[in-house]
Amino acid sequence: MRIAVTGAAGGVGGSLMALLAGRDGVEAFPVTRKEADLADGAAVREVIYRLKPDVVVHCAAMTAVDRCETEQELAWRINVDGTRAVADAARGAGARLVYISTDYVFDGAKDGPYTPDDPPHPLNVYGATKWEAEKITLDIPGGLVVRSSWLFSRRGKSFVRTVLELAARQAEIKMVNDQTGAPTWSKDLAAAILVCIEENASGILHVTNAGACTWHEYAEKVLALKGISGVAVKPITSDELGRPARRPKNSRLDCSAYAALAGRPLRQWDEALKEMLETL
Ligand SMILES: NC(=O)c1ccc[n+]([C@@H]2O[C@H](COP(=O)([O-])OP(=O)(O)OC[C@H]3O[C@@H](n4cnc5c(N)ncnc54)[C@H](OP(=O)(O)O)[C@@H]3O)[C@@H](O)[C@H]2O)c1
Repeated sequence: MRIAVTGAAGGVGGSLMALLAGRDGVEAFPVTRKEADLADGAAVREVIYRLKPDVVVHCAAMTAVDRCETEQELAWRINVDGTRAVADAARGAGARLVYISTDYVFDGAKDGPYTPDDPPHPLNVYGATKWEAEKITLDIPGGLVVRSSWLFSRRGKSFVRTVLELAARQAEIKMVNDQTGAPTWSKDLAAAILVCIEENASGILHVTNAGACTWHEYAEKVLALKGISGVAVKPITSDELGRPARRPKNSRLDCSAYAALAGRPLRQWDEALKEMLETL
């Protein structure tokens, strides 16, 4: 099976490339910004036609949520037009498309975890572009949308790194305590994506590590697991933080359909975080 991975230098794409490397019966092809910028539809199509993949896993996106709010035109160009180019190319090449999406398609008003059937209602531009790209994916026969949340990774910028950097400089750090979600290791998500491919899944699946916490609880767990004491973590509200993009208060996703497909859910988020921090 030939698998092309967009965003192959990012958190999820990089984890997926690492997982696929040397796997029997799989040839994996990285599609990074260097090979094809999502803003250049012709380049995207050319690369995918040339690779002749059986599956395209589309991880690349403009992921900076606040930047999407302040640079809306660019966000739509990269996340929506770019996905349309990837989808057209996948369809033309006869490849299945797997699109990685987000909890931010929901507004967070639900009392309980969101199921894949719940209607999206994004609060911010990032979420709106991701929902639009989901619809493009689902228009392709066999298209699969995998929604995840609060990803952490060994690569690049992440909440975990930010917490550790702040704790190294400050005696007190402030963390939002009115948003709840499931931190998810990109390595565990990559393994789940491969299960979805092997099981020929289509439609929408929710995939996160099990359990949930607030950003405040998440930060406290990062410090505890690293054995860092003497740094106070002060709870604040989203309004006090005052970011350009609004975020859902409830980001929990119901992953039972994925668990049924895979035969088990992903492990608890803090167990995954512990393993990631041991190797960071
Ligand atoms: N991070 C989260 O918490 C989270 C949560 C739920 C869902 N998701 C979704 O999961 C997917 C992967 O996220 P991630 O955390 O792995 O993000 P990431 O680390 O920011 O990786 C995104 C990748 O997309 C590439 N990219 C951005 N703009 C591009 C462009 N114009 N042309 C080509 N490539 C471009 C980036 O390349 P450069 O390195 O060159 O910039 C980067 O490699 C995304 O679709 C995201 O929306 C993320």
